[in-house]
Amino acid sequence: MEPIEELAGALRERLIERARSGEASGEGVTEQVKALVEREAMSLPEPERAALCERVLLLATGLGPLEPLLGDPAVDEVMVNGPAAVYVERHGRLQPTEATFESDADLMHAVERILAPLGRRVDEASPLCDARLPDGSRVNVVIPPLSLTGPCLTIRRFRRQGFSLRDLVANGTLAPGAADLLALAVAARASILVSGGTGSGKTTTLNALSGAIPGEERIVTIEDAAELRLRQRHVVRLEARPANLEGRGEVTIRQLVRNALRMRPDRIVVGEVRGGEALDLLQALNTGHDGSLSTVHANSPTDALRRVETLALMAGVGLPHDAVREQVASAVDLVVHQARRPDGSRAVQSVTEVVRVAGGVGTRELLVNGAVRRPREGRLAERLDQVGAAPDSGASPCTGASPGSEEAVAR
Ligand SMILES: Nc1ncnc2c1ncn2[C@@H]1O[C@H](COP(=O)(O)OP(=O)(O)O)[C@@H](O)[C@H]1O
Ligand SMILES: [Mg+2]
Repeated sequence: MEPIEELAGALRERLIERARSGEASGEGVTEQVKALVEREAMSLPEPERAALCERVLLLATGLGPLEPLLGDPAVDEVMVNGPAAVYVERHGRLQPTEATFESDADLMHAVERILAPLGRRVDEASPLCDARLPDGSRVNVVIPPLSLTGPCLTIRRFRRQGFSLRDLVANGTLAPGAADLLALAVAARASILVSGGTGSGKTTTLNALSGAIPGEERIVTIEDAAELRLRQRHVVRLEARPANLEGRGEVTIRQLVRNALRMRPDRIVVGEVRGGEALDLLQALNTGHDGSLSTVHANSPTDALRRVETLALMAGVGLPHDAVREQVASAVDLVVHQARRPDGSRAVQSVTEVVRVAGGVGTRELLVNGAVRRPREGRLAERLDQVGAAPDSGASPCTGASPGSEEAVAR
């Protein structure tokens, strides 16, 4: 370790000591560091004192080598796999970086600096931690003995605005016609499931779809870890809570869905369906709370429907399988399936209409060769006609084409 690093580390300890003992004056950290350096390192020449100040400040308040990465707007995710391996994701691609920490201890300091202000910590007894930074970014920490790679830190950067449907069209995720049809479907209160693998962009697309919910509606969002950023003003955000160390206090997505029904929602947006909430959501959708949006982890649209069915079956012990299947068929109108392309970009591969067929759930693909076909008959068609035919329906929220215009959505 360089002498300046050693000194900076020691000064940082002093700073913490002073804060603990209440000795610290009311002045800002910068002033405190300056005063400390002036006093303790008087003999150093001015440029070195300034460098020392900067280093102590970074050590005391910043995230050290991660700081420049987090300052880079193109970075979506920062992944630290032990002190010597830091990766980032930019434009959907993983890239190694030059950033390193001195040691496991140095990295743990950074972890502490992230978690402490949030009132969270990790140690050998509880080596896992999920947290949200004040700016909305998500943090996950896993340390030894669970991690054999040293302390691991994953930060998913929060995008202030999120992608809009327009952005998804612009970056090639979504065909313009598909964006128009989906915006129309959301406005028409169709219930939509976004499916795909981990990191395929489901939450991002859900967020974009939510932009088509009319501004006067009351929206309740329910998530495991709050990621959604709706543009509307009348939004109530609920976040589930894990059990505490003693195993108490857990509040599940399912409980929140049930609670949301008593909050007079116009729309319920569930970040991801992955448990018993599937049943409550299906029941809600079939009893007048239509127009809900959610995501589900699945390999295909039919897999998505099957998964919701399975989750609901597991939650509703004793419910006949046929009844649950029927509920899925009548609750869900559309499945939007997407995947990550090998080059890191994302693509909506399928827009699938869900139809009831004898004895089960049928599907109809609406996206053929990149063009989307507007359904002509059936439940969804009727919904779309209602909105599309409304006399005062203006330009579509996405591309400016008139909703229902043949060239925009039909081919
Ligand atoms: N359509 C997209 N184009 C480019 N990047 C995207 C797109 N959708 C998501 N991403 C990026 O991919 C990462 C994961 O997206 P997310 O929506 O959280 O995925 P999922 O919910 O499927 O796990 C985020 O960092 C996000 O910025
Ligand atoms: Mg997600």
